[in-house]
Amino acid sequence: MTRGDTTRIGRQTMHEVDFRITSTGNRVATGPLTSDSSQRALIPARAYTSAAAHELERERIFAAGWVWAGYAHWVGEPGRVKPIVVAGQPLLMIHGEDGEIRVFHNSCRHRGMALTEEPITVKRRIQCSYHCWSYDLDGSLAVTPYFQRERQARSGPADKRALGLLAVASRVWAGMVFVDLGERDVDTAAASFDRFIAPLAQRWSHIDFGRIKLAEERVFDVAANWKLVVENFLDFYHLPFIHPQVGSVTSSLDVDDEVLSPEIIGGCYPRGATGKAAKTSEALPFLGEVPQEKTENQDIFCVFPNALLFLEADWFQVIGFEALSADRTVEHMAIFVDQDGASEDHSVNRKRLAEVLFGVNEQDLPILGKLQAGRHSPASDRTSLVPHWDQVTAMFQQLVADRMAGPADQEK
Ligand code: FES
Ligand SMILES: [Fe+2]
Repeated sequence: MTRGDTTRIGRQTMHEVDFRITSTGNRVATGPLTSDSSQRALIPARAYTSAAAHELERERIFAAGWVWAGYAHWVGEPGRVKPIVVAGQPLLMIHGEDGEIRVFHNSCRHRGMALTEEPITVKRRIQCSYHCWSYDLDGSLAVTPYFQRERQARSGPADKRALGLLAVASRVWAGMVFVDLGERDVDTAAASFDRFIAPLAQRWSHIDFGRIKLAEERVFDVAANWKLVVENFLDFYHLPFIHPQVGSVTSSLDVDDEVLSPEIIGGCYPRGATGKAAKTSEALPFLGEVPQEKTENQDIFCVFPNALLFLEADWFQVIGFEALSADRTVEHMAIFVDQDGASEDHSVNRKRLAEVLFGVNEQDLPILGKLQAGRHSPASDRTSLVPHWDQVTAMFQQLVADRMAGPADQEK
């Protein structure tokens, strides 16, 4: 096995990621782990349990780059408004009359009241219930009753234009809504998101995400730190032991490591669907013009930090999550199919697919709880990621460690 002991996973050093080919012809990343039993965790155990570490992660990871914030179908029609929380900050997702989905800080510009804490549907405007200021669905301030404390006067604040809801950089992609709370320039945000997602958009260019329709959605409340959720997602080693129904040991040996960018990492079953339990009695319509060589693939990608994606030819699964506290993560799992697969004719197949996929996720819940429990042990600082299996997990941990070190520390 080749060892690249100088490989540093960072924004500029992707080309240094090397792969070896296994006896079954699969690609396995050869860095950054360099020892068969390092006995040294890359992230300290307390980073999984401490409230202070969680606060710092909110600031340096969840409020400082593109993150999954929700699904576009949560606000499926003009006038739909959905409160969401990202990095502990209350936000509002609004479907405008022009068809655009926008995200704002959920804070009235008068006294800062949250405009709504429940999903609502409004006509043309959203009104604050305290002093009845109202906003158009593009966020601009529309009405400020009795602003001048006069019965007749109709004029509002002189700087009305400056008192619209504060917008957050947001972008809809593949049925998901991403936001970047660290992006100050909301207008140039689209280009920044496009650069961020480009490696995956390119890999999935054969998929027509404009046609996807929600098949099923479910919420999972997980008693574990968000990093364990990601690490378990990237852990192909556990598949035959925890999810024996999805395939034999050999099918889990048949996974390629995939590294598209520092933030987009995962794997691919190149002949994926083969050794697996039949999820549907017959295939659902494909999600686009899927080339023959990709019809049996399953792609598995984490879009750092909190979108966990699976793609096969006929279904797309997302687990987007909120890291609520050091030991609690709420997953929003959604399964999408092509719009032709959303018809009544396919309802049995869709249900069966959803039950299989939800069932797999349920099997991980007790594992995650026990991983979290183990992080309270000082022995968790002496664990050993296995280079043959855990390089991609190590890349994730390295990225977390880099972000937590902060920009100033990184430059040193
Ligand atoms: S706080 Fe919203 S109108 Fe006063
Ligand atoms: Fe699992």
